[in-house]
Amino acid sequence: MEELDRFQPNKLQKCNKPHSAVMGWQEWVAGAEKVFQISNMSRQKRVIMAVIIFGSFIYIVLTQAVHILGGAPGEPVHPEIRKFCSSASRKNVNIEYEDSNLPVIYVVTPTYRRPEMVAELTRLGQTLTMVKRIHWIVAEDSHTCSPPITSLLDRLGLSYTHLASPMPEVYRREKYVPRGVSNRRAALQWVQENGEDTGVLYFLDDDNAIDIRLFNEMRLTQTVSMWPVGLIGEYTVSSPVVKGNQVVGFYDGWPAGRKFQVDMAGFAVNIGYLKKQKKVTMPYIAGHEEDGFLKSLNLNLKDIEVKADGCTNILVWHTRTAKNPSRTLRLAHHQATNIKPLTDNMRKMGMIK
Ligand code: UGA
Ligand code: MN
Repeated sequence: MEELDRFQPNKLQKCNKPHSAVMGWQEWVAGAEKVFQISNMSRQKRVIMAVIIFGSFIYIVLTQAVHILGGAPGEPVHPEIRKFCSSASRKNVNIEYEDSNLPVIYVVTPTYRRPEMVAELTRLGQTLTMVKRIHWIVAEDSHTCSPPITSLLDRLGLSYTHLASPMPEVYRREKYVPRGVSNRRAALQWVQENGEDTGVLYFLDDDNAIDIRLFNEMRLTQTVSMWPVGLIGEYTVSSPVVKGNQVVGFYDGWPAGRKFQVDMAGFAVNIGYLKKQKKVTMPYIAGHEEDGFLKSLNLNLKDIEVKADGCTNILVWHTRTAKNPSRTLRLAHHQATNIKPLTDNMRKMGMIK
């Protein structure tokens, strides 16, 4: 009750002091005069002081404004680290097989070091060698370029670019980590700077399996094309809902307030269209990377091109490989057998420590 009484108006009226805000201001000025002895100051000193106070105020306002405007959700505050590893055009191929009139498909695969990495990239890379006019961008979540990836890319003979861009530490500490975003963003920048306008951008994670017929579907994309992805979430599929060959919504077990409820492997973008957009981005927000990216393309549902027989076929799956722990082996008895060079090779591939 005592607490409440203090805030009753009649108690306030009894108080002879003027309104508290005014009083606070007057006291503050009086205090400042006392401390700084403003009335005794020369005119010059007063001007300098006014300039310092006003300057500080402007500085605070401006830095806050930059922070608020520049700090859109999921946008990095610090510069990202991006490293170019290597690049090559297609070799080991019968030139007749390549058709230079076909638009190039830029396939972006983020990856990171773990026991399964080389297995995943070998499977995916060998699938890509069966497809015409592919440029594979392998973007590592790492400060450095992994030698087994370099030699795999060299062996495959595909047209490729190898990049490295580590996830900023601040995101690695989050509860839900935005996986593969720093490296996809690095690839996105590369495509915006080097991709042919007629080409198409496709994000294909390293734990997906793809039917090469999907590349025929996406190759002539004019804006953004979409199709179902198998083995996703609650419904075992994520697909656009199509009526009269138009996308009218999404069938996905995790709506999460997303405008575009799609998986990363469920769409492709025309590069000329991409380059025309003002601020293309992929946010560092786990689960919202696809939606954030597609929103940044200023896309309307009616602009989406429907593929895979009106979104009735599955041509790509989020298979996910079982995770294997990275072991340290004991090899005391095998220094002179094949097991020694075998495990040395496994170590080079990142399969063991
Ligand atoms: C799912 C989606 O398939 C991703 O496209 C999406 O980015 C992610 O959710 C998310 O919402 O954050 P998920 O299967 O959970 O991905 O994650 P992973 O398959 O482990 O990672 C996605 C890609 O990023 C893979 O290509 C993976 O190699 C790469 N990755 C993963 C990194 O580059 N760094 C990591 O630390 C982890
Ligand atoms: Mn995955």
